[in-house]
Amino acid sequence: MSKILLTGATGSVSSAVIRSLQGAGHHLIGLVRDPAKAQALEAQGVELRTGDLSHLRTIEGAFTGVDVAWLLAPPTPLAPIQSSNALWAAKLGGVKHVVRMSAVGAAHDAPNLNSRMHALSDAEIAGSGIPFTIVKPHFFMQNLMMAAQSIAEQATLYFALGDAKMPMIDVRDIGATVAAILANPTPHAGKTYTLTGPTAVGMDTVAASIGEAVGKTIAYVPVPVAGMVDMLSKMGMDDYMQVSMRDYLTSYSRGWEAQVTSAVKDITGVAARGVGEFARDFAGAFGKR
Ligand SMILES: NC(=O)c1ccc[n+]([C@@H]2O[C@H](COP(=O)([O-])OP(=O)(O)OC[C@H]3O[C@@H](n4cnc5c(N)ncnc54)[C@H](OP(=O)(O)O)[C@@H]3O)[C@@H](O)[C@H]2O)c1
Repeated sequence: MSKILLTGATGSVSSAVIRSLQGAGHHLIGLVRDPAKAQALEAQGVELRTGDLSHLRTIEGAFTGVDVAWLLAPPTPLAPIQSSNALWAAKLGGVKHVVRMSAVGAAHDAPNLNSRMHALSDAEIAGSGIPFTIVKPHFFMQNLMMAAQSIAEQATLYFALGDAKMPMIDVRDIGATVAAILANPTPHAGKTYTLTGPTAVGMDTVAASIGEAVGKTIAYVPVPVAGMVDMLSKMGMDDYMQVSMRDYLTSYSRGWEAQVTSAVKDITGVAARGVGEFARDFAGAFGKR
């Protein structure tokens, strides 16, 4: 049994990690900004510690007694400093292993902003002296929820991927993989894993899978990247994410990072979910009655 601290504990990925860790006897600690927003975690037996990743002084004591830490920062321009703060606080707390949320293709010369920001933090963790593991997940299947309304109301999936394919991954599989690493980190020390779904799929296949799940034909209508970013900005997406999405969509449309990896199955022993399973499990969100 380990004491495992998770940052981003109320967010999508860390919630999936927590779900996968529950019941295995670990002492789970969620680092949250606002405990009032995390009462559901507390009710599930997760200890809450309070701190803001942007402000080092608020988290300097948060990692005391922690064996393994999961470090995730939200995708904003502050991510490199938040990651740096979390890493330093983990070092101060004597954490024995850190596992870091990066992103597919993260590199100093990556063709998109978010991947270049992640590369800064990947490099910092590699030089920190703390045993570490980095996971680099591909595009989340759950991002397809941004198209749920037009799928439900117009039976149309508008997306800016042209006829390219990408091995998108279900967040639940990221959660299971990260949980397995956190529970037994030593064999994963110094390793970086790109996490993908089981196959690279085009948006025509995604539309067909959702159509099968909801019981009607869903059309895929490719749109220009600029048009999709405009739509996302109208949905309230901030400037950093608009630029990141523009760059991601442009590079994915050109076939960037389309290769499938076996990391999910290798680490968890269970094959990653395909888009068909994702569509069936979330058919209600896509308009199934
Ligand atoms: N979407 C994709 O396809 C994709 C693919 C690969 C990698 N990624 C990476 O995934 C990560 C995002 O994960 P996610 O989707 O799980 O994020 P998310 O759902 O937006 O959750 C972010 C979490 O961070 C917390 N948080 C925000 N600001 C904070 C602060 N200043 N101090 C402490 N906690 C703070 C939030 O807590 P509050 O409740 O306080 O707001 C929330 O728990 C990013 O690194 C992104 O680059 C995304």
